[in-house]
This record gives sequence, structure tokens and C-alpha cells, in this order.
Amino acid sequence: METPAYRYNLGLLRQTLDVAIAESSPYGYNLHYAVKANSNPRILETIAQSGIGADCVSGNEVQAALDAGFAAGRIVFAGVGKTNAEIELAIVKGIQCIHVESFEELLVIDELSATKRKVTPVALRLNPNLDAGTHKYITTGTSQNKFGFSNEELEEAIRVLPTLNGVKLIGFHFHIGSQILDFTKFTQLAQFANGVYQRFSNLMLTYINLGGGLGIDYENPLENPIPNFSEYFGTFATNLNVGNEVSVHFEPGRSLVGQCGELLTRVLYIKRGEDRSFAVVDAGMNNLIRPALYQAKHSIYCVSPLVDQRDTYDVVGPICESSDVFGTEIELPKLMRGDLLAIRSAGAYGESMSSRYNLRNVTPSFFTTGSEAKLEMVVEE
Ligand SMILES: Cc1ncc(COP(=O)(O)O)c(C=O)c1O
Repeated sequence: METPAYRYNLGLLRQTLDVAIAESSPYGYNLHYAVKANSNPRILETIAQSGIGADCVSGNEVQAALDAGFAAGRIVFAGVGKTNAEIELAIVKGIQCIHVESFEELLVIDELSATKRKVTPVALRLNPNLDAGTHKYITTGTSQNKFGFSNEELEEAIRVLPTLNGVKLIGFHFHIGSQILDFTKFTQLAQFANGVYQRFSNLMLTYINLGGGLGIDYENPLENPIPNFSEYFGTFATNLNVGNEVSVHFEPGRSLVGQCGELLTRVLYIKRGEDRSFAVVDAGMNNLIRPALYQAKHSIYCVSPLVDQRDTYDVVGPICESSDVFGTEIELPKLMRGDLLAIRSAGAYGESMSSRYNLRNVTPSFFTTGSEAKLEMVVEE
């Protein structure tokens, strides 16, 4: 088997989708998968088949979502730096809503849309100035972050909107960050949104989008393969009060795909350092950048046949960067050159953030349905 490679369990992905849909539908909530988390075509097709919508942040993601079978009317499009070509694609394809991030962007969407004699539904992204308490690179909802309208630009937009013929304001969009496990953050987001909808009750809004952000259990992925969607949606059901005429939307990414993927990698060398042993593996930060970028910790296990002896390793990649480390002081069965390891919970922001840095190969992927997932004996759980 070629390594490094992503292995996806489509059975677990379908199960996760089923639970997310079952837990959200009693409240009438609408889900849009955040394509950025994993845009592998097979993953996209599987998610599109579940019937939920898509959340995109580039024209290419909009096109990939359409190609995978997502209905245009269920695609939303966010991002602080949309180009004219990307905006035009969204307008022409008739997507559900563009999430607008600044006053200037609103004017551009209006102009491009009016030129095509269209009226494009838009939601303004607001920044609740709420610290999600996660890694600073995946915290998006504070006033220090580049996302969303400032108060000054919001006032201006609300004043000007009635004069714009190419856009129709349908509501507001929020996204405070990712890998959030503290549910009080979602309570605070709901409360902030309530205040916004009360303040703008005269605008007859029909849409709210509360973003994504639900975290997954990177430490115990086997015990908790499916995130707590019940508590997540329940928190909003209890705290959100924006009026019955408003349709409620979410953009889960990581929580849908995070646990269904793992990165398989082979040990190239066991190297004795001064005070530690390194397992040098054939996957690098170009295949999975989360540990290097966010100091993320993934559980690592040995797929190769069991040996009784155990040892402790720093599991490192081949890239010429000191940050190319998947884990330090990881206890594993005593490893040899050629042993197969798996890095768990790599389904989100793994393959989609991979690159060819150091001119390495594109990372291949393959799929199981879960029942064949034991093709290789899993020795160390
Ligand atoms: C606007 C927006 N929506 C949704 C998401 C998905 O977040 P998550 O993968 O944490 O659910 C992101 C990711 O950062 C995002 O930027």
C-alpha cells in the first residue's frame, strides 16, 4: 500500500451525518457542510447524498460542491476576499446566500448582481467579539480578527441597503471559531444573535447562520467517534430566540468529517537522538499540517503486528522544518523500519490543507466502509 495516504471510513461518515441530521431536524435546523474541512470529491459526494447543503469559501469550492451534487439553492458562500469572478459564479449559479464580510464587498456584489439583472440574497457576517477560547489561529469572532462587519460599517450598510437593487438582505451570519468544546460559547453566541435580531426586527429578516465550530475528541476518538450533536443543537434550541419566521442554519465542518479519516504512514528510520528516540515516518507536515500549525495533538497507533516490547518515540516527518513533528514522547510498540502507523482524527483540515511542500507527492486517499477497516490488524488501540 502506498504511504503516506489518507484512509477514510465512509461508514462512520454516514453514521455521523445521520446523527447530525437526526439531532438538528426536530428543531427545523438547516445544515451546510463546510467544504474547507475536506473537499475530497468522494467525501463531498457522500455528504451531498445526505441532502444537506454546503458552505464554501472560494469559487472553486462552490464549483466542487455543485459537481459533487449539492443543490445550488443550499450553497452559501463566505470569505473576506472574494474576487469578482467568484462573486459572479455565485450569482450565476443562483446559490442560496452570499455571506458578506465588509461594506465595500456589499457594494461590489450589488453592482455585479445588478449588471446581470439579478437580486442576490445576502447575509452580513457580524463579529460578536466573543473569544471562543481555542487556538488563536482558529478563533475568528473577536474584534481583533479580520472577519465580519465592524459596527461602523454595519451602520453604513443598513443605511445604504434600501437603495441597492442587486442585493436583498435576508439575515446575519456568525462564526466564532473552530474546535469549540465549551458549550457556554455557543450559549453566548445565541444570546448575542438574539440581541441583533431584536435590534433589527424592523428589517423582516428570514435567515440566520450560526457558523460551525463544534469540536471533536482528539484524545479519545475511539470512545467518542461522533460529537455531541444533541447538546450542541439543544444549546441553540434553548437559547436562540430570533423569531419563528427566521430559518436557522449551521455550517459544521470538523464535527462531520474529523473522525472518519486517518493518515497512514510508514516508519522510514528509527533514529537514536541524544536523549530520545525518533521514529522518522514518511508522512510530513505537508500531508497533515495541524500539529505544526496549531500545535494540535492527534492520537497515533501502530497498525503493524504486535510486539510485546514498548518504547517511547518522537514521531517526526521528513520535511526540512523543526515543526515537522506529529507527536513527542509517544508510547508505541517497539518500532522497526517499515512498520505502519496511523494518525487518527485526520479527516478534517488534513487532506484539504495538504501541499506539495518540498516537492513531495500529492497525498493519495482510499476508502473503506468501516467493515473492511480491519483489513490491517489494528494492534495498539
Ligand atoms: C465561515 C466558516 N464556517 C464554518 C466553518 C467550519 O468550522 P468547523 O470545521 O469548526 O465546524 C469555518 C471554519 O473555520 C468557517 O470559517
